[in-house]
Amino acid sequence: MKKVVIVGASSGIGYELAKIYSNNGMTVGLAAPEIDLLQQLQAELPNKSYLKVLDVTQPTQARTLLAELVAEMGGMDTLVISAGKGPPLPSWEVELEIIDVNISGFTALANWAYQYFDEQGGGQIAGISSVASLRGRRIGTVYSASKAYINSYLEGLQHISSFKKNNVVVTAIRPGFVATPMVQGNTHMFWVASAQKAALQIYRAIEAKKRIAYVTKRWWLVAKVVKNIPDFIWLKT
Ligand SMILES: NC(=O)c1ccc[n+]([C@@H]2O[C@H](COP(=O)([O-])OP(=O)(O)OC[C@H]3O[C@@H](n4cnc5c(N)ncnc54)[C@H](OP(=O)(O)O)[C@@H]3O)[C@@H](O)[C@H]2O)c1
Repeated sequence: MKKVVIVGASSGIGYELAKIYSNNGMTVGLAAPEIDLLQQLQAELPNKSYLKVLDVTQPTQARTLLAELVAEMGGMDTLVISAGKGPPLPSWEVELEIIDVNISGFTALANWAYQYFDEQGGGQIAGISSVASLRGRRIGTVYSASKAYINSYLEGLQHISSFKKNNVVVTAIRPGFVATPMVQGNTHMFWVASAQKAALQIYRAIEAKKRIAYVTKRWWLVAKVVKNIPDFIWLKT
């Protein structure tokens, strides 16, 4: 039975992904900073699951706790890092938390998992980036930049895999808007997918071992356009 760890499983996309993996017969490891929602999720799952309270803003401890979870599960085939902090009003305290979670925390776990899979002779890491990663933006500037970092970091891991031919698959998921607590109150959204629909597309992209996947799929078109808008127009939008 395949073993999948989801970090950021207590809410939104991670929560729905956990249900999909479990419904498809897989053993899941669920990690997040609070136990209550993880226990609530565990009670809904039809297959064996494991819980770990883990806060990626404590990156060194988070790596140890991930290692513990993987040992308790008897191994890991796929790690999905869904943990993320969103783009609310800018203040240094909030921006620092976004950097801590989306950059330092993300790297701490992706780095640990990559080494684990390399030594194991294969496995898969999926990181949740965002369509917002594609250009620097006046709204959610640090969020966009943190997700651009994730794109670049995951591409770097893909480069290592391709070079070493070590069977470690790396998948970068780039969602558009998804209706989750992270974007609650945002009134400027369009093409908003439900968390269930987004999670299903993410699950399929991971299982298909895609290198990059836009979720929902039509955000691929937005990405193409956004990346090609000349700077003199982009900076006025
Ligand atoms: N929703 C969107 O429109 C959208 C669009 C593009 C990309 N994304 C990305 O998709 C991913 C999932 O977001 P979501 O929309 O599902 O948001 P969400 O409902 O807020 O879920 C975020 C998850 O990350 C966990 N998390 C936050 N800080 C953490 C920390 N320090 N350590 C460990 N886990 C932590 C949260 O746990 P707690 O709730 O306990 O803090 C929660 O389980 C994020 O990376 C986000 O940037 C979302």
